[in-house]
Amino acid sequence: MTRPIPCDILVFGGTGDLALHKLLPALYHLYHEGRLHPEVRIIALARSPLARQAYQLLAERHCRAQVAQHDFDVDTWTRFSARLDYFPMDAGQSADFGRLARYLGEPGGLTRIYYLATAPTLFAPIAAHMKVAGLADSEARIVLEKPIGHSLESAKAINEAIGAVFEESQVFRIDHYLGKETVQNLMALRFANALFEPIWRTGYVDHVQISVCETLGVENRGGYYDRAGAMRDMVQNHLLQLLCLVAMEAPAHFDAEGVRDEKVKILKALKPINGQDVQDKTVRGQYGAGKIGGQEVPAYYFEKNVDNDSDTETFVAIQAEIANWRWAGVPIYLRTGKRLGKKSSQIVIQFKHVPHLLFEGGQTNQLVIQLQPDERISLRMMTKTPGKGMHLAPVELDLNLAQAFSQTRRWEAYERLLLDVVEGDSTLFMRRDEVEAAWAWVDPILNGWQEHFQAPRPYPAGSHGPDQAHALLEHQGRKWHL
Ligand code: BG6
Repeated sequence: MTRPIPCDILVFGGTGDLALHKLLPALYHLYHEGRLHPEVRIIALARSPLARQAYQLLAERHCRAQVAQHDFDVDTWTRFSARLDYFPMDAGQSADFGRLARYLGEPGGLTRIYYLATAPTLFAPIAAHMKVAGLADSEARIVLEKPIGHSLESAKAINEAIGAVFEESQVFRIDHYLGKETVQNLMALRFANALFEPIWRTGYVDHVQISVCETLGVENRGGYYDRAGAMRDMVQNHLLQLLCLVAMEAPAHFDAEGVRDEKVKILKALKPINGQDVQDKTVRGQYGAGKIGGQEVPAYYFEKNVDNDSDTETFVAIQAEIANWRWAGVPIYLRTGKRLGKKSSQIVIQFKHVPHLLFEGGQTNQLVIQLQPDERISLRMMTKTPGKGMHLAPVELDLNLAQAFSQTRRWEAYERLLLDVVEGDSTLFMRRDEVEAAWAWVDPILNGWQEHFQAPRPYPAGSHGPDQAHALLEHQGRKWHL
């Protein structure tokens, strides 16, 4: 374990859901495991006029709720909370940054990490105010939460404004999917095992499915979500990042530039979807009322802070294609949705049939990489059933990762990513050109939906999504893996 680096961690949006539900519990875990310097200062910044002690109590309530009971230790909490402070300020007011600078004092060799857990519209003003107040020194690091902007143009404007204040090496654009254990395992599976490499390509792979299905609705985030929708909230970032890891070439080195150079090549090789293809290769949906786990839930347009006549999509399915030598002609189906019947994030690599069928009833090999809720990798193999005759049946080779490493605590994505920021490792963060390349592919689809007034297809909460998403695959003789 490397020696913890002395640093200050400042969280803009310190009273928001992300800070309270994810960032503080992650920092608590890191502190508990001795990964943060004992003198670290964690300073939450927000507008509410809270006293330090009131914030510490708020933080404690949330951490107790998020951290597993056996990991919550009262002594550690007392020490951790002594490192936790609150500074009320308005991130839109330049003068408040002057106050903040005086409160922080000289960095004196400390690394200062500024985590912007705020709306993206505040990213550029915060960076500009930091510069004026002298807070943007060359040791500072800035962490930006997704989504970076609302479109290619707004993302470029944000990147430009951030780039005017910070060097690219100081900027950490977070996509928490890259911090998930199983997502990184995808790289281990592909690049530390020789087995799949020769067949991980066109000619052997029939198609790929990448699905992130949620049972949750929009919870308390209706205001944000109704302006974003599933395309901006999930596809532009999490799903395209998963796609990059599935499809990229092996980098020469496992380092920030090596990995990100390969990912960006995939984003740039995505075939544009525009014109008639928007109608033929994409499906957008919106959930209606239904039942999740036996409980009645309301339709999307009755959720808090959502317009009653909203046409925001809560579901997207897309048939994508990567135009390069490895993947030409292989459909890559992406799917994500809220309020679906089952929570499951998975990647399915569907292989083709053997070239010449000798036995009846043979199915194809299928590799399923289950990211959540279980972490497992299973490979469907065809085997002979016992008895006379060559009757075949599929059997799974099943690797249960949680069981294989049952003695080790599973890190939350934000723990790993926050530690990477402290240590200055940007391998698992998105580079500017990656974010822009992802928007460049997504924008024409969003525009196509608008131009053709493509209203979202309704689906009942608790179902498998709109019928049209199933038809997308069925027309081609395929079906979604459930
Ligand atoms: C977030 C989205 O980035 O990811 C949410 O804004 C979504 O809408 C969440 O629910 C899903 O993350 P996870 O880790 O629960 O799969």
